[in-house]
Amino acid sequence: MKIVILGAGNLAWHLAPFLRKNGHEIVAVYSRTKFSAVALANKVKAIPIDKIEDIPSNADIYIVALQDKAVRSVLKSLKFIPNCIAHTSGSVSISVFPKQFKNTGVFYPLQTFSKTRKVNLNEVPFLLESSNLKTKKILSSLANSISTNVHFITSDKRKKIHLAAVFANNFVNHLYSIASEILKESKLPFDLLKPLILETAGKILEDSPEKMQTGPARRNDQEIIKSHLQLLKGQKNRKAIYSLLNASIIDKFKVKAK
Ligand SMILES: NC(=O)c1ccc[n+]([C@@H]2O[C@H](COP(=O)([O-])OP(=O)(O)OC[C@H]3O[C@@H](n4cnc5c(N)ncnc54)[C@H](OP(=O)(O)O)[C@@H]3O)[C@@H](O)[C@H]2O)c1
Repeated sequence: MKIVILGAGNLAWHLAPFLRKNGHEIVAVYSRTKFSAVALANKVKAIPIDKIEDIPSNADIYIVALQDKAVRSVLKSLKFIPNCIAHTSGSVSISVFPKQFKNTGVFYPLQTFSKTRKVNLNEVPFLLESSNLKTKKILSSLANSISTNVHFITSDKRKKIHLAAVFANNFVNHLYSIASEILKESKLPFDLLKPLILETAGKILEDSPEKMQTGPARRNDQEIIKSHLQLLKGQKNRKAIYSLLNASIIDKFKVKAK
């Protein structure tokens, strides 16, 4: 397919080359700043574009990989009606497209992307949504050409999946960050925790997270919990996070306090 990519950030950086590698032609890459557009366009032998009015109108599909808050305004400024267009956001509704656009959809890869990390898109779940049958066929064909894990899902369900992903990825990552800072403050390396982190992730691949829960809150060991809170004295955010997560675990397992 002839594809125009709108956006040259973390996701587009992975998606555009992978689409090209799998036989698609990236006609143009649009980004707000010329530097970003040129960097990605060079990678996929496409035309770099930094003005919305210069986006070519003859592509089979337009993939919108812009920051969520920019999607609506950029779409409104498009000077033509695209043959087919889909955004890549976990939380933006399919109704974001201007009314006159007929073939609209969502092309959401459920994975975390950073420019500096390699991701095998072949295994990434693609969660799709379409406004009509024509779009469904185009999106399905495109997604199946790059991934073995393709699903059609409603905007409401996609939002729930995105919410779950924030807990499973963004929040867990922030907790790693806190753990790393705590160790650093005692001049200890974060590397010490890496085997534990790998084993924690490995365990839930084989059984439910609920069954794999361990730790002082799981045992409702108040003595240990108090000693940890003592160590967090004066650290408002860390103390609040620790207390809230403890309360959530204790409430879930309802073990009598030791
Ligand atoms: N990254 C992920 O892990 C991930 C995973 C799944 C889905 N997604 C979705 O993919 C989309 C892109 O995410 P991303 O992480 O790739 O974003 P990003 O790295 O922040 O890149 C955003 C792109 O949007 C442009 N942009 C930012 N603010 C803008 C504005 N106010 N007006 C016009 N353009 C603007 C940037 O242009 P310049 O660089 O030229 O400034 C860049 O091309 C989002 O909808 C996101 O929800 C992301």
